[in-house]
Amino acid sequence: MSLERIIAALMCSVGYNRTPKGSALDFVGSHILSVDQFERSDIDRLFAVADDMIPYARRSRITRVLRGAILSNMFFEPSTRTRVSFGCAFNLLGGDVRETTEVKWSALAKGESLYDTARVLSGYSDVIVMRHPEEGSVAEFAAASRVPVLNGGDGANEHPSQALLDLYTVRRELGGRRRGMDGLRIAVIGDLRYGRAVHSLLKLLALFDDISIHLVSPPGLEAPADITAALRRRGHTVEVFHRLEDGIHHVDILYVTRTQEERFESQEEADRYRGLFRVNQEIYTEHCEPNTVIMHPLPRDSRDEAQELDDDLIANPNLAIFRQTDNGVLVRMALFAMVLDVADEVHNHSSPVTWYTAKRTPPKSRGRERL
Ligand code: NCD
Repeated sequence: MSLERIIAALMCSVGYNRTPKGSALDFVGSHILSVDQFERSDIDRLFAVADDMIPYARRSRITRVLRGAILSNMFFEPSTRTRVSFGCAFNLLGGDVRETTEVKWSALAKGESLYDTARVLSGYSDVIVMRHPEEGSVAEFAAASRVPVLNGGDGANEHPSQALLDLYTVRRELGGRRRGMDGLRIAVIGDLRYGRAVHSLLKLLALFDDISIHLVSPPGLEAPADITAALRRRGHTVEVFHRLEDGIHHVDILYVTRTQEERFESQEEADRYRGLFRVNQEIYTEHCEPNTVIMHPLPRDSRDEAQELDDDLIANPNLAIFRQTDNGVLVRMALFAMVLDVADEVHNHSSPVTWYTAKRTPPKSRGRERL
């Protein structure tokens, strides 16, 4: 499908044309394809709804506000937490989930177009989440869908829900420190060229004021020039580093990422970058401020030759990676609640939990629990 056709179709499709830049995002019925759709006020509204979801994610209460609704969760690339947490988020709101994973088990393997698949699936579902290896594919799919589509990651392009949950996590982690998002100091480390979570996060950070960003990557894996240029245009301080130790001083957040080996021309090329940057407790103690929060979209590559985030950080209370994944459920619940227009109804359909619920507080040595 040509780019023009995609854009034209998108303009006509559900809701997207109701979100011109500079005005509030009308979540109801909208596709969520890119963080470019968001203004600060939209993020505030989304995060307020995410906060409301805490009792349900904690299993203090249940809600059935989406009883009868169906999510089609279409993941044509590997995924654990994005797929399962979108599914759990929908279930926690009372809806049902149908899933397809891998192209080989779908009709795409028989040559069906994204257009046809979207027309078919949108007849079965109320909302669709899609991940696909090609940039722009989720937008193409959304253009043909009759129901809202949420981008679960399209190639190296964007991963909006991940960036939103990352920002939510930053906000919660720094909440007790009298530091808001404005004035944030963050080091983003690793494969900044292909990391779609990073791309979306950097675009979202641009919405705030006075951000100091250290972009720390091996030469060749720098962040896309258009994203860094946009950050600088908005007055943020962007510094580029090619040595890990140089880029992790004086920051509130270390955001570490994996080498996106599946995006390289060859495995040999990806292997050249593997293990170049390894954050471990020793490096953290020597170079970071004592309260620097450590984040990672996960999965972290824990093979010996990679270890971008060493297992020895597990006892570090500033390691926020599992609080980050817990927060993903809240933010994804909030996205569904807002897109399907039930955010104000959630508590009206709630009741106490009647089964045994395990405490989700981790062992003391394994860090703080904020969820
Ligand atoms: C990220 C992704 O898929 O882009 N993971 C995720 O969704 N949690 C990052 C990655 O795979 O490295």
